Amino acid sequence: MSDLIKEIQKRKTFGIISHPDAGKTTLTEKLLLFGGAIQEAGAVKSNKIKKGATSDFMEIERQRGISVATSVLAFEYRDHKINILDTPGHKDFAEDTYRTLTAVDSVIVVIDVAKGVEEQTEKLVKVCRMRNIPMLVFINKLDREGKDAFDLLDEVEQKLGLRVVPLSIPIGMGSDFQGIYNIWENNIQLFLEEKKQKVGETIKFDNINDPSIDEVIGEKAAQNLRDELELVQSVYPEFSREDYMNGDLQPVFFGSALNNFGVRELLDAFIEIAPMPQPKESDTRLVKPEESNFTGFIFKIHANMDPKHRDRLAFVKIVSGTFKRNENYLLVREGKKMKFSSPNAFFADKKEIVDESFPGDIVGLHDTGSFRIGDTLTGGEKLSFKGIPSFSPEHFRYINNSDPLKAKQLAKGVDQLMDEGVAQLFTLEMNGRKIIGTVGALQYEVIQYRLEHEYGAKCTYEPLSMHKACWVEADERSEEFKEFARLKQRFLARDKYNQLVFLADSSFTIHMTQEKFPNVKLHFISEFE
Ligand code: G4P
Repeated sequence: MSDLIKEIQKRKTFGIISHPDAGKTTLTEKLLLFGGAIQEAGAVKSNKIKKGATSDFMEIERQRGISVATSVLAFEYRDHKINILDTPGHKDFAEDTYRTLTAVDSVIVVIDVAKGVEEQTEKLVKVCRMRNIPMLVFINKLDREGKDAFDLLDEVEQKLGLRVVPLSIPIGMGSDFQGIYNIWENNIQLFLEEKKQKVGETIKFDNINDPSIDEVIGEKAAQNLRDELELVQSVYPEFSREDYMNGDLQPVFFGSALNNFGVRELLDAFIEIAPMPQPKESDTRLVKPEESNFTGFIFKIHANMDPKHRDRLAFVKIVSGTFKRNENYLLVREGKKMKFSSPNAFFADKKEIVDESFPGDIVGLHDTGSFRIGDTLTGGEKLSFKGIPSFSPEHFRYINNSDPLKAKQLAKGVDQLMDEGVAQLFTLEMNGRKIIGTVGALQYEVIQYRLEHEYGAKCTYEPLSMHKACWVEADERSEEFKEFARLKQRFLARDKYNQLVFLADSSFTIHMTQEKFPNVKLHFISEFE
C-alpha cells in the first residue's frame, strides 16, 4: 500500500453541530482528552458569544481570537488522525458553519436530552442532508431529567427528517440514570457520578438475559431494559454502514459529555464507521483523494487579529495528493502560481509549520488578499471544486461611505470582508448602489467596527426592507427574461461574482414572479445545477 493511501485511511475529518448550549464544546473537549491532545477539562475555549453581548465588541474580538484557535482541532486516537472542524453555533454565523460543512466528511449532531431538537440543529442538519453527509447523533446530558429516549428518537426522525438506529440506550435518566447499554459493543457502562472526569466501569455481557444484569442494575430496570431492546430490534432498522455512508441512516448514541459518559463509545464507533476523506466533484471531473497530484479548496478565511499585519489565514481542505511546503501551486481562478513557505497545520493546542499534509487535513495559508472562499488550488490542473454556495441573506441594508476621503479604504475593506465571507455584497444594476446582506443583524456591527479599526474607513447603513435574494437562472436572450428584467429592474443586482440576483420584498412577490415568468428560475442559493 502506498504511503499516501495509508495516510488517507488514517484520517477522519468531521464537524460537530448543535444548537448553542447542547454541549458541543464540552463534547469536543472530552474527545480531545481521550486523544491525549489536552490534559485537563476546561482547556477548550467556547467560542460562543455570551448572551446579551451582541454589541460588546471586545466580546466579538475575543470570540474571533478563539475562533482562530479552535478552527481546526486535530488529535490522534487509536492510530487515526482526527480533525475536528469548528462550527460556530450562533445563528448569526450560520453561513460560516454552512461553508465549514463543505470541508467535513461526516458530522456528529449533539442534542440536549431535555430540549430535544432545536432550531439551529434543524437548519444545520438540513444542510447536511442536502449533501448526504453521514451523521451520527449524540443525545447529551443524560444525567439530567429529559425526554423519554424513544420519544426523542421519534422527534429526531420527524423534525430532522432522519432515519435513526439507536446503537446505545440509556438505563434510567436524571437522578435514576444508571448507565448505558451499548448495543454496538453489547455491554453496559455504569454511571458513577462521583467519578466525573474518569470513565466509569464497563461490564460486558454476552447475553441480555444474563441474570447478573439484574444484580447490577436491579430487577425492574433490567426487565425494562430487555423490553426496550426488544422494541429497538422490532422497530428500528438494522445498522448498515452503507446506508450510514450514503446519508440514509443515522446511528444514535446517548451519554453525558460533561461526565465523560458514553463519549468513548461514541468515539470508538466513530473511528470504526466514519468515512475517511472522500472524493469530491469538480467542474470537470470527480477528484479522488488517492490521486498523486495535490488539489484542495478554501472554505474559510480568517483576518489577522492584529490590524498592523493585514495578512489573513486561508484554510484549505486537502482533497487529493500530498500538499508540500515551498512547492508551486496554481490558484485556478486567477491562473496564478503560488508557493507557500509557512503553511500551518493545526493541533489541539497549537499550530505549526508543516512540510507535508494529506487529504482530509486542513492547512492554513498566509494570504495577503489573493484568496476568496471557494477558491481551488491544484498542482497545475485547471479544475474548480463545486459546492460552496452562498445562501440568501436574511437582512439587507444599503451601505454608505461616511468619510469621502476614505472611499478607497472603504471599498477595499468591504471587498476583503466579503472575501472572508462575513456578509454578501450586492450592487444594484440600476444605479450601482451597494447593499450588504447578512444572515444576522450582528454582522452589521462587526463590519462597521472592523472597517473602522482595520481599514480606517467609516460607513453608515440605510434600512432596506427585503425578504430574500434570489439568484436568477434564465436565458438572458429570451423575451420572457427581457420582460422580467424590464419590470423588475429596480430590484436587480449583481453579487460579488457578477451573478444576477433578484431582490424580492416578500414571499408573495417571489410567488407571483415565478407564476408570471415560469422560465426565469429563482434560487435561494447561489449554486444550482
Ligand atoms: P455548546 O458548545 O453547544 O454551546 O455547549 P457547551 O459545551 O458550552 O455546554 C453548554 C452547557 O451545558 C455548559 O454549562 C456545560 O457545562 C453543560 N453541559 C454539557 N454537557 C453536559 C452534560 O452532559 N450534563 C450536564 N448536566 N450539563 C452539560 P454552562 O453552565 O452553560 O457553562 P459552564 O459554566 O459549565 O461552562
